[in-house]
Amino acid sequence: MATIKAAILGFGTVGQGIYHILNEKREELKSKLGLELEVAKILVRDTSKERVPGTAHLLTDNIDDVLSVKGLQVVFEAIVNEEPAFTYLKRAVEHRCHVVTANKVMFAKRGLELQELAKKNGVFVGYEATTAGAVPVIKTMKNILLVNDVSRIQGILNGTSNYILTKMRAEGWSFDEALAEAQRLGYAEADPYNDISGQDAFKKLMILSALAFGEQPNWSDVEVIGIDGISLEQVKEAIDQGLRYRHVAEVEKYPDGTITAKVGPMLVDKEHPLYPIDDVFNAVTMETNYIGTLTLVGPGAGMYPTASVMVEDYAEIIGKRAGFVVSI
Ligand SMILES: NC(=O)c1ccc[n+]([C@@H]2O[C@H](COP(=O)([O-])OP(=O)(O)OC[C@H]3O[C@@H](n4cnc5c(N)ncnc54)[C@H](OP(=O)(O)O)[C@@H]3O)[C@@H](O)[C@H]2O)c1
Repeated sequence: MATIKAAILGFGTVGQGIYHILNEKREELKSKLGLELEVAKILVRDTSKERVPGTAHLLTDNIDDVLSVKGLQVVFEAIVNEEPAFTYLKRAVEHRCHVVTANKVMFAKRGLELQELAKKNGVFVGYEATTAGAVPVIKTMKNILLVNDVSRIQGILNGTSNYILTKMRAEGWSFDEALAEAQRLGYAEADPYNDISGQDAFKKLMILSALAFGEQPNWSDVEVIGIDGISLEQVKEAIDQGLRYRHVAEVEKYPDGTITAKVGPMLVDKEHPLYPIDDVFNAVTMETNYIGTLTLVGPGAGMYPTASVMVEDYAEIIGKRAGFVVSI
């Protein structure tokens, strides 16, 4: 049985999740994919920190160590920010490795470029985990686009914002109380700026725009508003009118080819597909010409949901290579 050598870049929440899934599912992956996946290297910044027992010998802080692994075939990337992540993945692709990323900040800006480079090198880029976590929006949209045009996408793309808005409405908590609870539960980062300012949702929206339309609007033309300006009084007024606040990211392509996007709080009524989406859930609604309107809902983040879709991405790549579809 063939052994596939894999590397994991970044060994925090997501990177460790990938490692655990590859170990826990070793036998199942063997029987379903017909191959063994071996983690050969793990890239971190600080190699002295023990994260998972038994992995110290795999750690390195040097990408050259990773890329010099003989027979390396896939790189799972779960580090943060555009650089050095993009440069590392570019080098991996040039080494003819498939890459699977969770890094939305990098992919929103450099995704099209990375995919172009991958195509030239005959390898694949998996990026389901960048957008809406475990909600299979990327693979679903890719399938839909084989036959349909997508004209408009609306989504709740940040679970932390949705959790805060849900608790303000359902529990009557203030914004600060709801944010503190989101942080206590590990939903929000210690620095929640990207979540509550709308920047996180904006990056995911740009990834969806690139997929649906092959391009993005000028980033500087997109109005991005967070939820930090919404008061409890406003939430209560909305309830009285039968409405709910949702933090919605939307992008639309018009028949003349213009693309517009915006990110911000929106009041929705009972008929709106995003009305019932509560807590940390994410949802994406797509308007298409043949299917009509389709909404996907599911967990937007977390160690295992995110890592799981990354391993699924790899299974899909193997399936494409072998000319069959693999399901785990
Ligand atoms: N957490 C989620 O639920 C989730 C969901 C979807 C997508 N994502 C995305 O997945 C990525 C990882 O998120 P996370 O929550 O796992 O982050 P995290 O817990 O902060 O872990 C980040 C890891 O990356 C390593 N790292 C950072 N900069 C590096 C560099 N320059 N060179 C080498 N290693 C570096 C860190 O090394 P040290 O340990 O040595 O500091 C750490 O192990 C991010 O891009 C995030 O946006 C996360």
